Amino acid sequence: MVTIIKNGKIVTKDSVFNSDIKIVDGKISEISPDIQCDDAQLVDAEGKYVLPGAIDSHTHLDLDTGITKTADDFTSGSKAALVGGTTTFIDFATQDKGATLDDALLVWNEKADHKTYCDYGFHMAITDWNERTKADMKKMIIAGIPTFKMYMAYKGSLQVDDAVIYEALEESAKIGALVGFHCENGDLIDARVKENISQGHTGPYYHAQTRPSNVESEAVNRLMTISNLAGAPVWVVHLSTKEGLNFIREARIRGQEVVAETCPQYLVLDVSKYGNPTDTNFDAAKYVMSPPLRDLEDQGALWEGIARHEIDFISTDHCSFNMKGQKELGREDYSKIPNGGAGIEDRVLLLYTYGVCEDKISISDMVALLCENPARKMGLNNKGSIEVGKDADLVILDPNHEDVFSVKTQTQHVDYNGYEGMRRKGKIEQVFLRGIQVVSNGKVVGEPKGKFVHRSFQ
Ligand code: URP
Ligand code: ZN
Ligand code: ZN
Repeated sequence: MVTIIKNGKIVTKDSVFNSDIKIVDGKISEISPDIQCDDAQLVDAEGKYVLPGAIDSHTHLDLDTGITKTADDFTSGSKAALVGGTTTFIDFATQDKGATLDDALLVWNEKADHKTYCDYGFHMAITDWNERTKADMKKMIIAGIPTFKMYMAYKGSLQVDDAVIYEALEESAKIGALVGFHCENGDLIDARVKENISQGHTGPYYHAQTRPSNVESEAVNRLMTISNLAGAPVWVVHLSTKEGLNFIREARIRGQEVVAETCPQYLVLDVSKYGNPTDTNFDAAKYVMSPPLRDLEDQGALWEGIARHEIDFISTDHCSFNMKGQKELGREDYSKIPNGGAGIEDRVLLLYTYGVCEDKISISDMVALLCENPARKMGLNNKGSIEVGKDADLVILDPNHEDVFSVKTQTQHVDYNGYEGMRRKGKIEQVFLRGIQVVSNGKVVGEPKGKFVHRSFQ
């Protein structure tokens, strides 16, 4: 099967140029102007951008918190991903206490296999550190999972201590793995939640008060110290603060290897979404996510970090819970609101609208942040760029379109949109996954065709 995308504005991390793209057997086989071929399917991209399929390196789909389950599973989440221009995501398989990494992988394979519309990989989140877990890290690498995650927050459930972080990082350095960290001081958060609740401060406004910016930056700084001692690279997930970024910069100056990720919510939303202490309104529960939304100074520092190429990529941390029946569980106590927000569908056009169209970044920068950098840093060696030989994961974006983000028009299975009513520029018109058209005129077509992607650091 041969397809030719004609006359598009091809975007790479370095340039934008007009060309045709020829796709043969799911791969990009030629990039040049005026490609001719009899019997090819022709796709007209005149006046439109052709981007590599975006990669979301941070999702939580079909996640069971023990109390409730995310609103999006692999089917609805991957459909939403495609509609939003994301052709590959990497979800966090999570080890249960007392279980092995193999057990977690079996569970996550079951959640995703034959149910996923885009390509996917897994990170492995380690919650129970012991000799078996340590030995199994190598097995995960062989299985195509060279990235792990540990939580410095969520005391009593996911949180691990500094000694465990140190040991895991020593092992990761030995075997060539990369560990990502949720950087917030879980002990402090726990103490501050107890304090708030005992004072009758139970509304969602107090979520952000409980975990101010130094609760994150302290953990980033501690991680930089531990990883320096362990001699290991680290990945800071969902970075939200100026101070945290400062600590990453200092570590890099010392010669440490640090991968930095932020998310659109920290770039386009801010702490004002939590209202004020006297609010009785529960609407702010939509924004109960960790880390919380920050002030405009943090937001500005993250955009500056992006401009200075200090932030490697932008993922969503998509972890959707409905207001009805889920966020509502914390009506009487904000610490019981399931943490997380949605955005797998919104990320590309958020970055296009509030980054590219507002001249904060170029469209090539956007491709670096959403496609090429995550592919390189996450070991997705066949994805993330428009190059001969790469998977033909391609997105046609029509820039001549404007509407708004809204729950009314979204595909993701959650009963609100955190960006409701905000301007949205551009339209994800057509999407190709390994050369197969999976989105036509903004709608998913066909059955789930997503495959597990074996990742490796070459
Ligand atoms: O609030 C969030 N971010 N929930 C998802 C889990 C995590 O911390 O990444
Ligand atoms: Zn996290
Ligand atoms: Zn997360």
